[in-house]
Amino acid sequence: MNVRYFKKKVALSAIEYISKNSVIGIGSGSTMKYFIKELSSIRSFIIGAVASSTISYNYLRELNIPIIELNDLNSCIDIYIDSADEVNFHMEMIKGGGGALTREKIISTASKKFLCIIDESKFVKTLGVSFPLPIEVIPMALKFVINEIKKIGGISKYRNHFITDNGNCIIDVYNLTINQPVSLEKYVNNIPGVVCVGIFAIRKANILLISDINGVRKII
Ligand code: A5P
Repeated sequence: MNVRYFKKKVALSAIEYISKNSVIGIGSGSTMKYFIKELSSIRSFIIGAVASSTISYNYLRELNIPIIELNDLNSCIDIYIDSADEVNFHMEMIKGGGGALTREKIISTASKKFLCIIDESKFVKTLGVSFPLPIEVIPMALKFVINEIKKIGGISKYRNHFITDNGNCIIDVYNLTINQPVSLEKYVNNIPGVVCVGIFAIRKANILLISDINGVRKII
């Protein structure tokens, strides 16, 4: 059994959270790829899906799952489903390992519920200790943002050869022990030039499914 096995397992168990005639927000990444595949078998059951990245959008289209643009919706998305890079016991997260954090944050915040699906390796005591914090930055503000982050002890690494779906760049910040995710999320979001920080604490998950050798367990 490897990580892929656990990702697939948790993705399959998320299907039971999909209600008839609902609009689903779709995250990004390899766990979500398993989920999208599974969702295709019940595509006639749902109204449609809102994609958080070009990769997820293309995969939804390939599997003939109806796609809805956020701007065309008159009400909230019923449920947002996504994985994360790290999740703590309070269901606060680090996301953005795949670089789709900004749209993920928009869509998750526009959803009534956030169901987060992870394998056990991502369930951590403290955010930011082993996984660097991704931040999407407007290119001309890169140096300024890196310097501002340095003032709070963060060591930034520019993500080479990577442009987000929004045309921006990403820095991955090391050396942060995130004990107060909500205040750090607000602080970093307030730095001019920052488009989005990969802390999801203001909009955290409502339900967490964790897959390990004993099966899939739920935290609410
Ligand atoms: C994408 O930007 C991320 O937020 C993903 O949710 C995260 O990286 C999880 O990806 P995997 O399912 O590939 O581990």
